[in-house]
Amino acid sequence: MAGAAEKVDYVFKVVLIGDSAVGKSQILARFARNEFSLDSKATIGVEFQTRTLVIDHRSVKAQIWDTAGQERYRAVTSAYYRGALGALLVYDITRRQSFDHIPRWLDELRANADKNIVIMLVGNKSDLQEQRAVSTEDAKEFAEKENLFFLETSALQATNVESAFQTVLTEIF
Ligand code: GTP
Ligand code: MG
Repeated sequence: MAGAAEKVDYVFKVVLIGDSAVGKSQILARFARNEFSLDSKATIGVEFQTRTLVIDHRSVKAQIWDTAGQERYRAVTSAYYRGALGALLVYDITRRQSFDHIPRWLDELRANADKNIVIMLVGNKSDLQEQRAVSTEDAKEFAEKENLFFLETSALQATNVESAFQTVLTEIF
């Protein structure tokens, strides 16, 4: 299917944000190439990958942007958010601090992105149930209050990664 002559009807930019080590780059690797690595290195600067999928009989190229959670390695904020139609706001269900920082990420997103941006709150590493530090209920409540979509994912087990992107892309569409 995908090739030089591939016909694309839409290109949708989606950004990944959240603290360092929550799994943003591995969520992207899972979605774009169906790959996963346990010894993933911290992202420096900004990267993006694309995957073309069919939504409602149209070919949609998802251009997913990934930057560093660590302040010193981050991309220029305004450029990163420019033109983004969707966002995955990611925390790690085993690290409470990464969830407590979500309001800050949301403020930055709302200050810099289009006001109609579609936002999905993502609790990653759902495979690590024994180490859970953020309840599904707390996250669901926060998401409802802030009008965000919400899913728990595991990039490792490939759980809900597809759904998270599908939901955002379909909603943009
Ligand atoms: P920065 O680039 O520094 O912002 O971090 P990041 O959010 O991109 O994190 P990254 O994807 O590099 O993952 C950090 C660590 O968590 C790596 O060791 C990954 O293998 C691991 N990891 C990512 N997703 C999962 C998951 O779903 N389950 C488990 N158990 N580990 C994961
Ligand atoms: Mg990364």
